[in-house]
Amino acid sequence: MFIPRDSVEIVEVGPRDGLQNIEQFVHTKHKIELIRRLAESGLVEIQIGAFVNPVAVPQFKDMRDIVAEFAGGVPGITFTALVPNLKGAVEAFSAGLRKIAFVFSVSRYHNLSNVRKTPEESLEELKDISRLREEYPDAVIVVDLATTFGCPFQLTVSPESVLHYVAMVHDLGFDRITLCDTVGFGNPRQVHDVAAACIASFPDVTFRCHIHNTRGLGLANTLAAYGAGIRSFDSSVGGLGGCPFAPGATGNVATEDKVFMFNEMGVFTGVDPRSLVETSRYLSSILPHVRFESALFRAGLPAAVSFPE
Ligand code: COA
Ligand code: ZN
Repeated sequence: MFIPRDSVEIVEVGPRDGLQNIEQFVHTKHKIELIRRLAESGLVEIQIGAFVNPVAVPQFKDMRDIVAEFAGGVPGITFTALVPNLKGAVEAFSAGLRKIAFVFSVSRYHNLSNVRKTPEESLEELKDISRLREEYPDAVIVVDLATTFGCPFQLTVSPESVLHYVAMVHDLGFDRITLCDTVGFGNPRQVHDVAAACIASFPDVTFRCHIHNTRGLGLANTLAAYGAGIRSFDSSVGGLGGCPFAPGATGNVATEDKVFMFNEMGVFTGVDPRSLVETSRYLSSILPHVRFESALFRAGLPAAVSFPE
């Protein structure tokens, strides 16, 4: 297998994906400390939560306070939030964020469960969000395509339906799309082939992958996506995460594990895995009853671990 020595962008989504499935409310000051620590590990983009209905996901009822804390910005870091609808996008931009991820599912059933809309209705919502770019010309909108590689309700998701929704999003003028394995159904061949087909069909789109490790294939799928040409990955510190509206969802590939893999292979991430392991330990001290799936959290780092500057 030919593996190019390139660089990848690691987008930390732990403060959002990692916490959204946890019932215990994480105190705002602990969330802020988590984000502050992540910002010191070399990451360039951090998703700090979600502008969602606080009845649906109470964990993010303090979103405005969190955004306000980082209003002054941190040099070199872009803060983002997930939004499921126009209201979330308006809230995010008016709170001061300039980058958001709008989520909808390729699977009709998961989209209905998650955001109470059909994918077509979500596309209508995206059309409305698109108009916000007139008011916020510097806004960056990423579109997260959930259940790209399988769905807990309808199981199989065809590559044709993924390409169909990528085309719809592209037609609306969006050029950043994340292919999400929401419940870890993907396998390396599938991830490679779907990612490669997306890149080949839409060369002006920057694709990212968001891979859960639900069935243990997370790093293999990550590498398969890299082999297909993906150079941007979402990731969650400690390996926490999962959609509360997808039965059986568990965590993402831990950021420290992914960073360790890439760094050791000579693929530049710019991120320090030691710092991430320390942050996982900090988070674990706040969430003592939560199981951390991260391999590095459990095994520690080898003494000679590389962190190419
Ligand atoms: N942020 C805050 N409140 C919101 C909101 C948002 N983005 N969108 C809707 N609301 C509020 C409405 O104002 C309304 O409030 P009210 O009852 O006080 O009048 C209430 O939520 C219901 O609004 P409605 O438009 O009917 O939404 P809904 O009940 O159909 O729910 C979602 C749709 C998308 C808002 C809701 O399902 C949700 O927040 N889901 C979260 C999905 C998620 O985070 N998944 C995990 C990540 S993939
Ligand atoms: Zn996720």
